[in-house]
Amino acid sequence: MEEMKNIEVLMDEKRVFSPGPDVVERAYIKSFAEYEELYKRSVEDNEGFWAEMAENNLHWFKKWDKVLEYDFHKPYSKWFINGKLNVSYNCLDRFINSDKRNKAAIIWESNYGYISRTLTYRQLYHEVSRFANVLKKHGIKKGDRVMIYMPMIPELSIAMLGCARIGAIHSVVFGGFSSQSLKDRIQDCGAKMVITADYGARGRKFVPLKANVDEAVEVCPTVERVLVAKVQTVTGYRTAMTPDRDFWWHDEITADDIESYCEPEWMDSEDPLFILYTSGSTGKPKGVLHTTGGYLLYTALTFKWIFNNKEDDIHFCTADIGWITGHSYIVYGPLCNGATTVMFEGIPTFPNPGRFWKIVEKYGITSFYTAPTAIRSLMREGESWMKKYDLSSLRVLGTVGEPINPEAWMWYHKNIGQEKLPIVDTWWQTETGGILITPLPGAIPTKPGSACKPFPGISPAILKEDGTPAGPDEGGYLVIKKPWPGIIRGTYGDSENKRVKEVYFSKFPGMYFPGDSARVDSDGDFWIMGRVDDVINISGHRIGTAEVESALVSHPSVSEAAAVGFPHDIKGEGLYVFVTVKGDVSPTDALKKELINHVREVIGAIASPDKLQFASGLPKTRSGKIMRRILRNIAKGDVENLGDTTTLADPFVVDEILKGML
Ligand code: WTA
Repeated sequence: MEEMKNIEVLMDEKRVFSPGPDVVERAYIKSFAEYEELYKRSVEDNEGFWAEMAENNLHWFKKWDKVLEYDFHKPYSKWFINGKLNVSYNCLDRFINSDKRNKAAIIWESNYGYISRTLTYRQLYHEVSRFANVLKKHGIKKGDRVMIYMPMIPELSIAMLGCARIGAIHSVVFGGFSSQSLKDRIQDCGAKMVITADYGARGRKFVPLKANVDEAVEVCPTVERVLVAKVQTVTGYRTAMTPDRDFWWHDEITADDIESYCEPEWMDSEDPLFILYTSGSTGKPKGVLHTTGGYLLYTALTFKWIFNNKEDDIHFCTADIGWITGHSYIVYGPLCNGATTVMFEGIPTFPNPGRFWKIVEKYGITSFYTAPTAIRSLMREGESWMKKYDLSSLRVLGTVGEPINPEAWMWYHKNIGQEKLPIVDTWWQTETGGILITPLPGAIPTKPGSACKPFPGISPAILKEDGTPAGPDEGGYLVIKKPWPGIIRGTYGDSENKRVKEVYFSKFPGMYFPGDSARVDSDGDFWIMGRVDDVINISGHRIGTAEVESALVSHPSVSEAAAVGFPHDIKGEGLYVFVTVKGDVSPTDALKKELINHVREVIGAIASPDKLQFASGLPKTRSGKIMRRILRNIAKGDVENLGDTTTLADPFVVDEILKGML
């Protein structure tokens, strides 16, 4: 367990909140006994359970021959074998001749708020179908990779669904990533097209998306076309367009030769739906691959049960679609249920910290899903902001992305939850496709800081270093023993799944290891403790320390760098970097700024170091391995507890670092 970090065991948290009668009445699963029975069945007859769910929740052009084939040693898993379906058909065509045809599918709230846009199911279907034809016209075919680098505007969802309609594989890159990060991702998957916007507006900031794309595609010969949506909230912004390569979205979608109907491609259940890049312990971000049938079923069902989504509900997930949370709980989960989903272009504090609550009131939001970091930053602003708005429409609250501290949970419960709404603390990852551990409102009592129970069909366990099960409250490595439909199928470009095997299936052979530690209390509730690898979680965003280090050493003045996380009141974790400069370079404040900027340019603003300390050497073992444990303790200010330093090649290095500590 020496490796584990972030273990703040909240053993003394004993508060329990049971769902009230209103919550129970609306819930799909209405009692703990009902959950237990459902759960028992879902694991005892796992395939039967998922088959029934797939039958009831999705439309199949052709039914599967076999529910599941898997081997966690190789590893692989395949769901609904030989089943044929189309994601955009499931999210749109199913509803356009039903009572839902004029129901809002997407409600878009602009950065500035005075412009909003609503797309009904029928309108969205129409846009997606036409856009799919635009993709075809520009040479995109089934299996081609299409990069999407856009702000949170409806065109982003239309682009994703358009790709899904013709079987192209989309890969959304968060608009906050740099041009270089975009380039790396385009090159990794060999994208043929990039879909972007002229710029992105977030709060008072502008992101020159198209200019970033121009810079990236210069060194990406696979890119044949760039489609550019015009952001409508500001006029007068001029964008350079390269003839024959760049095309305006609005010109293309309205062109005379574009037909309104696009036949949805019959996709195999295991055909790829998208690639989403995420950070790991080593190397560059990997392209997590999700496929069609399993992913769609998993997001649809988790969305329905966890947010208790019913016909009149309005769901608001505050994530950006550039992350998995947005893919699963803004786009695919809600739309596959024929639900109304809100897409918000801006940030929680613009024009003021009442923005989320204003949106809740404006649209009558019923389920609200955000990250602990947002809650903590709004907490700091005080209670006056939400008091201005009517929050009475809310029925379920959720959090995701990082452990939530009980203090933030209680604040959320009291001020937003009006002391009666269930809070679902949902644990999952890019690789899991959807939520795996969570309370179900109406059925599972909640505890501040606990993600509570496994979703039906999920078999988690906590193991000790030697692979034996940990006892109640003992803490250990979280593993999942059986596959579920939304599980990662591979990383792009690695057909033998070597990387997946090494990262997720080698620590405990035959089991999925997500990289988190957790404990289970005596009620069987899960408490996620944090990552045990070199991935840090800044404001709910994953950053690999290796990425930050290689960004730093790519600067000509840097000789070596080590990056670690440290506890941060708002962000959850902050980024602390230790840098040694080359012999002839002086470690000045100007260089410090330059290096911080350099990381922003290489990766993006989210990886911006909070603290940068120059050091003349880094603590290393005699075999040359950097001892991160020591650096982590220094970063957290825990200098009394540096542990054994006798194995260091040069123990004096530590003294020097301690002197320069920030
Ligand atoms: C962390 C985001 C505690 C965890 C959906 C995981 C959480 C990583 C929670 C995945 C939670 C996510 N409680 N920790 N409720 N949800 N995490 O891939 O460390 O961006 O491994 O997916 O976030 O981050 P990712």
